[in-house]
Amino acid sequence: MPGRQMHLGVFSVGPGNHVAGWRMEGSFTSSEDFSAFLHIAETAERGKLDFVFIADGLASAPGDHPGSIARFEPFTLMSALAARTSRVGLIGTGSSTYTEPYNLARLVASLDHLSGGRSGWNVVTTSTPQAAANFGLTQPVEHDLRYEMAAEFVDVVQALWDSWEDGARIADRASGAYVDPAKIHPIEHDGRFYKVRGPLNLSRTPQGRPVIVQAGASDAGRGFACRYAEAIFTVQQDLDAAKAFYRETKDGVAAAGRVPEQCKILPGLFPVVGRTDEEARAKLAAMVELVDDRSAINTLSERLGHDMSGYDLDGPMPDLPPSAHIHSYHAVIRAIAQRPGCKLRDIYNIFAVSRAYLVACGSPETVADIMESWFTGPACDGFMLVPATFPGTFDDFVALVVPELQKRSLFRQDYAGTTLRDHLGLDVPENRFTAARAAG
Ligand SMILES: Cc1cc2nc3c(=O)[nH]c(=O)nc-3n(C[C@H](O)[C@H](O)[C@H](O)COP(=O)(O)O)c2cc1C
Repeated sequence: MPGRQMHLGVFSVGPGNHVAGWRMEGSFTSSEDFSAFLHIAETAERGKLDFVFIADGLASAPGDHPGSIARFEPFTLMSALAARTSRVGLIGTGSSTYTEPYNLARLVASLDHLSGGRSGWNVVTTSTPQAAANFGLTQPVEHDLRYEMAAEFVDVVQALWDSWEDGARIADRASGAYVDPAKIHPIEHDGRFYKVRGPLNLSRTPQGRPVIVQAGASDAGRGFACRYAEAIFTVQQDLDAAKAFYRETKDGVAAAGRVPEQCKILPGLFPVVGRTDEEARAKLAAMVELVDDRSAINTLSERLGHDMSGYDLDGPMPDLPPSAHIHSYHAVIRAIAQRPGCKLRDIYNIFAVSRAYLVACGSPETVADIMESWFTGPACDGFMLVPATFPGTFDDFVALVVPELQKRSLFRQDYAGTTLRDHLGLDVPENRFTAARAAG
């Protein structure tokens, strides 16, 4: 019986996570290319990964990252992927600010049924003014208020997922009874932001409740994650800082009355793999070479929530006030900016190439060493892989690094179960109505 093992997911973006990944020979070029996503999902499944992750935003501009200018709605895409895969988990982003709990609950539960229990929802509160403008607002909902809304939103969604108990559909041909009404419940939610009667028009899903994922790094975001998230995506660059984050977050989960092991912490990892360290370094150098200033600056501006186009690229990182809209990346940037001799150009190269995630560049052994040191730290429970290009960088990882991790017993040889909860080692939550009945 192996000991503790890593969880791995892949941040799936047609044209690659590197801002110019699509320019590399043989790379996919579009996030509207189903065959590209199918290749990614099939490769992930071959590598026994826990899940593929599909990000989302609710606005588009010509200067955006090529992966987000034009892209499929994640749950629509994942429903198509569900039909062509059998094991890999499917986690997609859905905004709590710009939809209604009933709609979202259906979307994610439908995918759980269609996929046989492989669905997860990355709860985002959507920070950008551009998205706000697409939903009739002149400015985004204030940051902490968005998280207060998100908390109530998730409460409602989870109540809706419980609104049908297991065994509610009888479909008894002899008696003609189709459902057992005693096992289908209105939720009668009447809260500060939402009013929802229920029940949901979908029966309880294979996972009971699909998996809740979160990626906020502000105080409000972390508080929310400690209460609800079963997996947390993070941005980390420094092992000691990541260890502290890990410890504090697990403590926060316990303080919220939950079992810390039921919340997996997965920092982003940008792998660049070669047969040797030199070959990998040459690949990384070629990626840096391809960055074009304009799109890099756009990415940086978007990440920092400030227009960065007016600053001298060969000067130091300016001291920016925290943005009202985006908090998470500031700490990472500040830490990088304090490295001796760091220029703004260095920082935006990091953003453009790796989106500020931890870079693991080298031979399969070197990459596995970095992952092992973070995993055993403990600084994480696994990683969200953020490959520069698809299929190139991701296929390299699955072909070269996964076997090395397996050799070290750090990663599964095969799936032990069929659902995303099985892969992530997450318990099936008790249905509140069944529990209430059992309690009399
Ligand atoms: C791996 C990862 C994936 C993310 N995916 C999305 C996404 O798909 N859509 C989105 O709007 N934000 C996404 N975010 C941003 C976070 O949801 C969050 O808004 C951001 O980290 C700011 O944190 P804060 O809201 O607590 O300030 C992602 C962040 C990370 C680290």
